[in-house]
Amino acid sequence: MNQTDNSQVVPAIRFRNITKVFGGVTALDDVSFEVMPGEVHCLAGENGCGKSTIIKIITGVYQPEPGAEMEIFGQPVSSINPTMARKLGIDVIWQDLALFPQMSVAENIAFEGVLGNVPKFVNYKTMRTKAREVLARLGVTLDLEAPLHTLSVAERQIVAVGRALVGEAKLVFMDEPTASLTQSETDKLLAIVDKLSADGVAVVFVSHRLAEVLKISSRVTVLRDGKLVGVYDTDGMTQSHLTELMTGHTFDSVVSAQDHSAAPAVLEVKGLSRAGEFSNIDLTIHAGEVVGITGLIGAGRTELGHTLFGMTRPDSGAITLNGTPVRFRSNRDAINCGVAYVSEDRLTLGLVQPQAIADNIVLPVLKTILDRFGLFSSAKKEKTVRYWIDELSVKIGHPNDPVTTLSGGNQQRIVLAKWLATNPKLLILDAPTVGVDVGARAGIFEIVRRLAGQGLAILMISDEIPEAYFNSDRVIHMAGGEFVNEFNPTNVIIPEIEEVVFA
Ligand SMILES: Nc1ncnc2c1ncn2[C@@H]1O[C@H](COP(=O)(O)OP(=O)(O)OP(=O)(O)O)[C@@H](O)[C@H]1O
Ligand SMILES: [Mg+2]
Repeated sequence: MNQTDNSQVVPAIRFRNITKVFGGVTALDDVSFEVMPGEVHCLAGENGCGKSTIIKIITGVYQPEPGAEMEIFGQPVSSINPTMARKLGIDVIWQDLALFPQMSVAENIAFEGVLGNVPKFVNYKTMRTKAREVLARLGVTLDLEAPLHTLSVAERQIVAVGRALVGEAKLVFMDEPTASLTQSETDKLLAIVDKLSADGVAVVFVSHRLAEVLKISSRVTVLRDGKLVGVYDTDGMTQSHLTELMTGHTFDSVVSAQDHSAAPAVLEVKGLSRAGEFSNIDLTIHAGEVVGITGLIGAGRTELGHTLFGMTRPDSGAITLNGTPVRFRSNRDAINCGVAYVSEDRLTLGLVQPQAIADNIVLPVLKTILDRFGLFSSAKKEKTVRYWIDELSVKIGHPNDPVTTLSGGNQQRIVLAKWLATNPKLLILDAPTVGVDVGARAGIFEIVRRLAGQGLAILMISDEIPEAYFNSDRVIHMAGGEFVNEFNPTNVIIPEIEEVVFA
């Protein structure tokens, strides 16, 4: 599309020469960014390239270094704060959601009225009506009275989207809104984005799923290492071209499935059931084997993962690890038996947010970093931390920085590092690449393969069928709490699996 027909139109935002430095890290280096009214514009780039930082500057959470020129709906502004941004019609769905776990769905969506400067009377009836309208617009039903902490990650994501829509925004930033959503929920959200855009609302969208980026946006701004690579029309652009712009190279996916049935069984599960979650699960994972489990939300995959990790107890059935029957009373028991669990929900289960990066990595292995007198060895700690940061190429400032200073995808790598440092026998990965960029995904799967090669048994829960397909030896389809199909990637193609799973 030729952008010159837009020359008469005033951009929703026009930002020029934005630089942002955090301590020694230059997060943004002289970047310009412009969005037209009603446009769906994607921000793309690897983890830590500066996408969230640009959003935080435009919405006044951070101030840029001097020299930036900022215009909002044609008005030059010298500085912005979050209240002002909201008044100007700019809304954000943050990557970490920023919701209130103890409050209800309705309160989270429509609480804005009481958060202003003047304390206002809270009209619960209006609030509920507003919340209901917004959810209807999104095409979802949620219990409005349910406290947020009882919701799944996907449901919380929907609440965050709802909250932005309630504010009648003219420009909405969505920082990885689909990261924890399944296919059908994603489709609903993308339909909403289309509708917003048709209504003249501009949407700036961040996603590491490149197919989605190309489908939803008309233009994409690509960043690499805090610098602007360019602004491109998405018409006719391919995923591999976009990947190349983002990373400087391309990645190929090949089926890696192998038969491990002759190797010793690490995990054996027989007739495992837990009321309302899953039933009659039989599963054997051999040393060196990667088993993928796919399915729709609510299939019981995460619940099964929780039981295998000792977070919940089965009602019936047996679990055997390396030939020994086990009964976990807590995840501590499971960790002691060599089970590690990388959660889909790094924000609540994965990381201790205010603590340092280094402490997060060594948390489950404190015992192993004692010296021979049983004292805490900072040299050992440093060595462990360094090793995993290098191994997983985590982009950090200093190991003692709070983990909250890391970009989303780098936080996910820290979660992985933390569990790999426990030297597990069975590794359960639940949506391990949520929010992880295309290059880093390839890196994580390379690590998964290497660990499997060392005899680790790996159970990988994934919503993304291609991800399970290319990186597992077997793909199990779970639905309604049961294993309903099993696929050998060497014998099927992705559409065949999709047809069954999305049927
Ligand atoms: N408050 C902060 N203090 C220190 N460094 C920060 C802070 N916020 C961001 N950074 C650093 O700035 C860089 C850009 O981070 P940003 O969160 O913008 O990345 P991103 O592109 O959103 O990545 P992701 O895809 O992983 O979410 C990173 O190196 C990050 O560690
Ligand atoms: Mg980010």
